Amino acid sequence: MSDAMSRSSFPVAQTPHMLDFISHSVAQTERIGQRLGSMLGPGDLLLLLGPFGVGKTHLVKGVASGLGSTDLVTSPSFVLVNEYRAGPDHGNLPIYHADLYRLDERAEISGIGLEELWSGQGVCLIEWAERAADMLPTDHLAISLQHLSDTKRVLRFVPHGERYQQLVAQLKQGMFG
Ligand SMILES: Nc1ncnc2c1ncn2[C@@H]1O[C@H](COP(=O)(O)OP(=O)(O)O)[C@@H](O)[C@H]1O
Ligand SMILES: [Mg+2]
Repeated sequence: MSDAMSRSSFPVAQTPHMLDFISHSVAQTERIGQRLGSMLGPGDLLLLLGPFGVGKTHLVKGVASGLGSTDLVTSPSFVLVNEYRAGPDHGNLPIYHADLYRLDERAEISGIGLEELWSGQGVCLIEWAERAADMLPTDHLAISLQHLSDTKRVLRFVPHGERYQQLVAQLKQGMFG
Protein backbone atom coordinates (compact mmCIF):
# COMPACT_ATOMS: atom_id res chain seq x y z
CA MET A 1 0.00 0.00 0.00
CA SER A 2 1.31 3.44 -0.85
CA ASP A 3 2.16 5.86 1.92
CA ALA A 4 -0.34 8.28 0.48
CA MET A 5 -3.09 5.81 1.10
CA SER A 6 -1.98 4.92 4.61
CA ARG A 7 -1.99 8.61 5.42
CA SER A 8 -5.28 9.59 3.89
CA SER A 9 -7.36 6.50 4.63
CA PHE A 10 -7.78 5.67 8.25
CA PRO A 11 -9.78 3.27 10.34
CA VAL A 12 -12.85 4.68 12.02
CA ALA A 13 -13.48 1.77 14.31
CA GLN A 14 -11.76 -1.52 14.72
CA THR A 15 -13.13 -4.46 16.60
CA PRO A 16 -10.98 -7.58 16.41
CA HIS A 17 -12.73 -8.67 13.23
CA MET A 18 -14.41 -5.68 11.68
CA LEU A 19 -12.64 -2.96 9.76
CA ASP A 20 -13.80 0.49 8.66
CA PHE A 21 -12.17 2.75 6.10
CA ILE A 22 -13.00 6.22 4.99
CA SER A 23 -12.51 6.71 1.29
CA HIS A 24 -12.09 10.29 0.11
CA SER A 25 -12.27 9.65 -3.61
CA VAL A 26 -13.17 7.18 -6.34
CA ALA A 27 -9.46 6.47 -6.77
CA GLN A 28 -9.14 5.61 -3.11
CA THR A 29 -12.14 3.27 -3.20
CA GLU A 30 -10.55 1.54 -6.17
CA ARG A 31 -7.22 1.24 -4.36
CA ILE A 32 -8.89 -0.36 -1.34
CA GLY A 33 -10.56 -2.79 -3.74
CA GLN A 34 -7.26 -3.47 -5.43
CA ARG A 35 -5.53 -4.32 -2.22
CA LEU A 36 -8.36 -6.64 -1.26
CA GLY A 37 -8.48 -8.20 -4.74
CA SER A 38 -4.80 -9.07 -4.64
CA MET A 39 -5.53 -11.25 -1.59
CA LEU A 40 -8.48 -13.18 -3.00
CA GLY A 41 -8.54 -16.76 -4.17
CA PRO A 42 -10.81 -19.49 -5.55
CA GLY A 43 -14.26 -19.66 -4.00
CA ASP A 44 -14.12 -16.33 -2.20
CA LEU A 45 -17.47 -14.60 -1.78
CA LEU A 46 -17.88 -10.85 -1.24
CA LEU A 47 -21.23 -9.19 -0.63
CA LEU A 48 -21.49 -5.49 -1.46
CA LEU A 49 -24.16 -3.70 0.49
CA GLY A 50 -25.40 -0.15 0.43
CA PRO A 51 -27.54 2.27 -1.56
CA PHE A 52 -27.49 3.19 -5.21
CA GLY A 53 -24.48 5.27 -6.24
CA VAL A 54 -22.46 4.60 -3.11
CA GLY A 55 -19.52 3.02 -4.95
CA LYS A 56 -20.09 -0.74 -5.04
CA THR A 57 -19.25 -1.06 -8.73
CA HIS A 58 -16.16 1.12 -8.34
CA LEU A 59 -14.98 -1.11 -5.52
CA VAL A 60 -15.44 -4.14 -7.78
CA LYS A 61 -13.32 -2.37 -10.41
CA GLY A 62 -10.52 -2.20 -7.90
CA VAL A 63 -10.97 -5.83 -6.86
CA ALA A 64 -10.82 -7.05 -10.47
CA SER A 65 -7.72 -4.97 -11.07
CA GLY A 66 -6.12 -6.34 -7.89
CA LEU A 67 -6.78 -9.81 -9.27
CA GLY A 68 -4.80 -8.83 -12.34
CA SER A 69 -7.80 -8.59 -14.62
CA THR A 70 -7.61 -6.30 -17.63
CA ASP A 71 -11.29 -6.73 -18.46
CA LEU A 72 -13.60 -3.75 -18.43
CA VAL A 73 -15.73 -3.77 -15.30
CA THR A 74 -19.23 -2.41 -15.83
CA SER A 75 -22.40 -2.44 -13.82
CA PRO A 76 -24.24 -5.73 -14.35
CA SER A 77 -27.60 -4.27 -13.32
CA PHE A 78 -29.25 -5.30 -16.60
CA VAL A 79 -27.45 -8.53 -17.38
CA LEU A 80 -27.38 -9.60 -13.71
CA VAL A 81 -23.96 -11.27 -13.92
CA ASN A 82 -20.75 -10.17 -15.64
CA GLU A 83 -17.79 -12.47 -15.89
CA TYR A 84 -14.19 -11.30 -15.99
CA ARG A 85 -10.93 -13.18 -15.98
CA ALA A 86 -8.21 -12.74 -13.36
CA GLY A 87 -4.61 -12.41 -14.50
CA PRO A 88 -2.06 -15.25 -14.67
CA ASP A 89 -0.71 -14.44 -11.19
CA HIS A 90 -4.16 -15.26 -9.89
CA GLY A 91 -4.61 -18.46 -11.85
CA ASN A 92 -6.78 -16.78 -14.51
CA LEU A 93 -9.71 -17.38 -12.17
CA PRO A 94 -13.16 -16.40 -13.30
CA ILE A 95 -14.52 -13.35 -11.49
CA TYR A 96 -18.31 -13.27 -11.21
CA HIS A 97 -19.84 -9.87 -10.69
CA ALA A 98 -23.55 -10.04 -9.94
CA ASP A 99 -26.06 -7.28 -9.26
CA LEU A 100 -29.42 -8.23 -7.77
CA TYR A 101 -30.89 -4.71 -7.90
CA ARG A 102 -33.50 -5.59 -10.48
CA LEU A 103 -34.62 -8.77 -8.79
CA ASP A 104 -37.19 -8.43 -6.09
CA GLU A 105 -38.86 -11.76 -5.95
CA ARG A 106 -37.32 -14.72 -4.23
CA ALA A 107 -38.26 -16.99 -7.12
CA GLU A 108 -36.49 -14.68 -9.55
CA ILE A 109 -33.36 -14.69 -7.46
CA SER A 110 -33.27 -18.43 -7.00
CA GLY A 111 -33.81 -18.75 -10.76
CA ILE A 112 -30.55 -17.14 -11.83
CA GLY A 113 -28.24 -19.86 -10.54
CA LEU A 114 -26.34 -17.78 -8.02
CA GLU A 115 -25.23 -20.88 -6.12
CA GLU A 116 -23.15 -21.93 -9.09
CA LEU A 117 -21.25 -18.67 -8.89
CA TRP A 118 -20.04 -19.10 -5.33
CA SER A 119 -19.65 -22.85 -5.28
CA GLY A 120 -17.13 -22.90 -8.13
CA GLN A 121 -13.48 -21.92 -8.36
CA GLY A 122 -14.11 -18.28 -9.15
CA VAL A 123 -14.20 -15.16 -7.04
CA CYS A 124 -17.77 -14.00 -6.56
CA LEU A 125 -18.89 -10.41 -5.91
CA ILE A 126 -22.57 -9.63 -5.39
CA GLU A 127 -24.02 -6.11 -5.40
CA TRP A 128 -27.40 -5.67 -3.70
CA ALA A 129 -26.81 -8.94 -1.87
CA GLU A 130 -29.47 -7.73 0.60
CA ARG A 131 -31.99 -9.03 -1.91
CA ALA A 132 -30.80 -12.61 -1.43
CA ALA A 133 -29.95 -12.42 2.24
CA ASP A 134 -31.39 -15.75 3.33
CA MET A 135 -30.03 -17.70 0.37
CA LEU A 136 -26.41 -16.79 0.78
CA PRO A 137 -23.69 -18.93 2.36
CA THR A 138 -22.98 -18.06 5.99
CA ASP A 139 -19.27 -17.69 5.23
CA HIS A 140 -18.60 -14.50 3.30
CA LEU A 141 -17.09 -11.06 3.54
CA ALA A 142 -19.75 -8.37 3.85
CA ILE A 143 -18.72 -4.89 2.72
CA SER A 144 -21.19 -2.13 3.54
CA LEU A 145 -20.74 1.25 1.95
CA GLN A 146 -22.26 4.49 3.20
CA HIS A 147 -22.30 8.04 1.89
CA LEU A 148 -20.54 10.61 4.05
CA SER A 149 -20.51 13.39 1.46
CA ASP A 150 -20.36 13.81 -2.32
CA THR A 151 -16.91 12.28 -2.43
CA LYS A 152 -16.51 10.51 0.89
CA ARG A 153 -17.63 7.03 1.76
CA VAL A 154 -17.33 4.70 4.72
CA LEU A 155 -16.45 1.14 3.77
CA ARG A 156 -17.12 -1.36 6.51
CA PHE A 157 -15.67 -4.86 6.19
CA VAL A 158 -17.41 -7.49 8.29
CA PRO A 159 -16.02 -11.01 7.95
CA HIS A 160 -18.22 -14.05 8.50
CA GLY A 161 -16.26 -17.24 9.01
CA GLU A 162 -12.60 -17.97 9.58
CA ARG A 163 -11.39 -17.51 6.03
CA TYR A 164 -12.77 -13.98 5.92
CA GLN A 165 -11.55 -13.09 9.40
CA GLN A 166 -8.11 -14.00 8.18
CA LEU A 167 -8.58 -11.96 5.05
CA VAL A 168 -9.66 -8.85 6.96
CA ALA A 169 -6.78 -9.29 9.40
CA GLN A 170 -4.42 -9.47 6.43
CA LEU A 171 -6.00 -6.39 4.88
CA LYS A 172 -5.67 -4.49 8.14
CA GLN A 173 -2.05 -5.54 8.43
CA GLY A 174 -1.30 -4.48 4.87
CA MET A 175 -2.89 -1.08 5.28
CA PHE A 176 -2.00 -0.07 8.79
CA GLY A 177 1.10 -2.17 9.49
N1 LIG B 1 -15.15 7.94 -2.52
C1 LIG B 1 -15.91 7.44 -3.52
N2 LIG B 1 -15.91 6.12 -3.77
C2 LIG B 1 -16.67 5.60 -4.76
N3 LIG B 1 -17.49 6.33 -5.58
C3 LIG B 1 -17.53 7.65 -5.38
C4 LIG B 1 -16.75 8.26 -4.34
N4 LIG B 1 -16.99 9.59 -4.38
C5 LIG B 1 -17.85 9.81 -5.37
N5 LIG B 1 -18.20 8.65 -6.00
C6 LIG B 1 -19.17 8.55 -7.10
O1 LIG B 1 -20.25 7.74 -6.66
C7 LIG B 1 -20.72 6.95 -7.74
C8 LIG B 1 -20.59 5.47 -7.41
O2 LIG B 1 -21.07 4.73 -8.48
P1 LIG B 1 -21.13 3.15 -8.47
O3 LIG B 1 -19.81 2.59 -8.10
O4 LIG B 1 -21.71 2.75 -9.77
O5 LIG B 1 -22.18 2.91 -7.27
P2 LIG B 1 -23.09 1.63 -6.97
O6 LIG B 1 -22.51 0.47 -7.71
O7 LIG B 1 -23.01 1.49 -5.48
O8 LIG B 1 -24.47 1.99 -7.41
C9 LIG B 1 -19.90 7.33 -8.97
O9 LIG B 1 -20.59 8.32 -9.68
C10 LIG B 1 -18.63 7.89 -8.35
O10 LIG B 1 -18.01 8.85 -9.18
MG1 LIG C 1 -23.37 -0.89 -9.02
